[in-house]
Amino acid sequence: MIAQVCIGCGKKYTVDEIVYSCKRCGELLEIEYDYDLLEAKLKKSNWQKLPLSVWRYKDFMPIRDPSKIVSLNEGGTGLHSCQRLANLLGVKHLYVKNEGENPTGSFKDRGMTVGITKAAELNVQTVICASTGNTSASLAAYAAKAGLQCIVIIPSGKIAQGKLAQAMVYGAKVVQVRGNFDQALKTVLELSERHREVYLLNSINPFRVEGQKSLAYEICDQLNRKPPDRVVVPVGNAGNISAIWKGFTEFHKLDLIKKLPKMTGIQAEGAAPIARAIKTGKNEITPINEPETIATAIRIGAPVSWKKAVRAIRESGGTAETVTDKEILEAQKMLARTEGLFVEPASASSIAGLKKLLETKEIDKNEVVVCVATGHGLKDPDIAIKISEKPLTVDAEAGFIEKLLGLSQPIPATIVSR
Ligand code: F0G
Repeated sequence: MIAQVCIGCGKKYTVDEIVYSCKRCGELLEIEYDYDLLEAKLKKSNWQKLPLSVWRYKDFMPIRDPSKIVSLNEGGTGLHSCQRLANLLGVKHLYVKNEGENPTGSFKDRGMTVGITKAAELNVQTVICASTGNTSASLAAYAAKAGLQCIVIIPSGKIAQGKLAQAMVYGAKVVQVRGNFDQALKTVLELSERHREVYLLNSINPFRVEGQKSLAYEICDQLNRKPPDRVVVPVGNAGNISAIWKGFTEFHKLDLIKKLPKMTGIQAEGAAPIARAIKTGKNEITPINEPETIATAIRIGAPVSWKKAVRAIRESGGTAETVTDKEILEAQKMLARTEGLFVEPASASSIAGLKKLLETKEIDKNEVVVCVATGHGLKDPDIAIKISEKPLTVDAEAGFIEKLLGLSQPIPATIVSR
């Protein structure tokens, strides 16, 4: 019923085969279901009564044995109505899907709970990934929960402190490479081909992105099955936007929603091969050899899932945009200060992109928009401290503080009581 299928030539592989790209043509794989069978299964299931979470949707996941599920309570994140920010940006309705509420603070946990459950089904002992930070934090946590060895390969000096701390404390073997994420990923792909016993859990693994599609299901359910007009997603390696689109199209195929949102991808100006291909109408991306952005999570020049992402954006009638580091940091502050949502720079790129696309009128002000905030702000405390006003320092005396803050002199108690 469920198979791994090549997105290029259509060759099928069973779900028990460890294969990361098509052996015939080299293209990416995706998980395919028999939707009639799935529909019949759903009719007998109580899934709609379960609380919002990744595993509310276990019938939609390529998992054989639910007793093997490795979970830290992922998903069920808030879809925050952000009216103050919407008014500032000039759009009618804005929601932020706050993925920082996940167990390790990013959307990656949706993918890892499924990916590590698959690893347990396959009986592997060691898992590996290359990462700009969040994938490594998430994989390390789920591997610990499942009792697996974990290896993470990161670009030296280019991942935020919070993420490095997570990977280290969860007990992963952390290897820093001299080079960027793209080079780290290439090395990891080679290692996992050479050592079949080491299971790769980057987003090229189609089981991992299955978990991430639950983000779309949740948005539909949180909006009472009336999908938004548009979903704005930060794009790095391009697995997430592809996964979210798959989620929406599946709900549509199953007649659970009647329309589909426009997928809109945002990339940092110094790392934007997909946005450039979309904006110039090209069918291929031109990789960037030395990607650069303050949003280290999306500092990626050769996104492995670019084909799936370009397909998602084009099929949905969406678009893509680039944003500068300055725009990203402004958006990060704006979201924190108008809505109380503290997200990391990569996540704020979706807000920065929305602002830009409203200004150029590519997004209509009457649209209902969901921006995906992919990771928690505490992942990268250095940036938050750098962009904010410094704390004021005085002696611990009320008078000094009144003076410093310009508070008026207190009225003597005797006058107040009269
Ligand atoms: N936002 C955050 C916070 C991320 O960590 C990432 C990717 C993205 C957006 C982009 O998602 O790659 O699916 O397009 N981080 C990966 C990592 C690459 O290693 O943690 P994508």
